[in-house]
Amino acid sequence: MIINPKILYFGTPVVLLSTENDDASANLAPMSSAWALGQTVVLGLGPEGHTANNLRKRPELVINLPDPRLWPAVEAIADLTGSDPVPEHKRPAYRHERDKFGAAGLTAVESLRVRPPRVAECPLQLEARVEHMALDASGEFVIVQVGVVTVHADPGIVGPAPTTLTHSNGVR
Ligand SMILES: Cc1cc2nc3c(=O)[nH]c(=O)nc-3n(C[C@H](O)[C@H](O)[C@H](O)COP(=O)(O)O)c2cc1C
Repeated sequence: MIINPKILYFGTPVVLLSTENDDASANLAPMSSAWALGQTVVLGLGPEGHTANNLRKRPELVINLPDPRLWPAVEAIADLTGSDPVPEHKRPAYRHERDKFGAAGLTAVESLRVRPPRVAECPLQLEARVEHMALDASGEFVIVQVGVVTVHADPGIVGPAPTTLTHSNGVR
């Protein structure tokens, strides 16, 4: 059977991107087109979205990975945008919200190396800087490559260090 889905979305974990607004407050956006390649994370964003605009002006972010229990917090901000006014293409599905951390009931904590805050409740928080940002071939999305500079992990999800067989001369 051949099908023609409108979008080829087969599901990837949701992340919450923290970015910095013009007034130095923080925006928080759920997104799921994210994947990692070494220390780089590749993000697919709407090119005119508030998050993309923040990243063009201030290329720092935190990629917060919620655990499944945080789904109500993600849902609470799913139809909110940091854009004011709400862009035409997002009406009437979205409404503007300046304080998405508050709307989600999540706690902002200072980051170590970037300006946007981390989400305290997320067990993994990746501080990152934009290294490359360009439209995709279709022109519909912007592909953002970010370099992760700090990884914060809840000790509860960190396993023991992998054992490696190392000879005395340091050669594995
Ligand atoms: C589960 C989920 C996944 C999403 N994935 C993406 C995505 O991969 N890329 C994207 O640009 N928007 C994605 N969105 C939509 C953004 O959250 C939406 O555009 C929102 O307005 C972004 O916030 P901002 O306008 O403050 O930047 C997703 C939304 C949800 C709820």
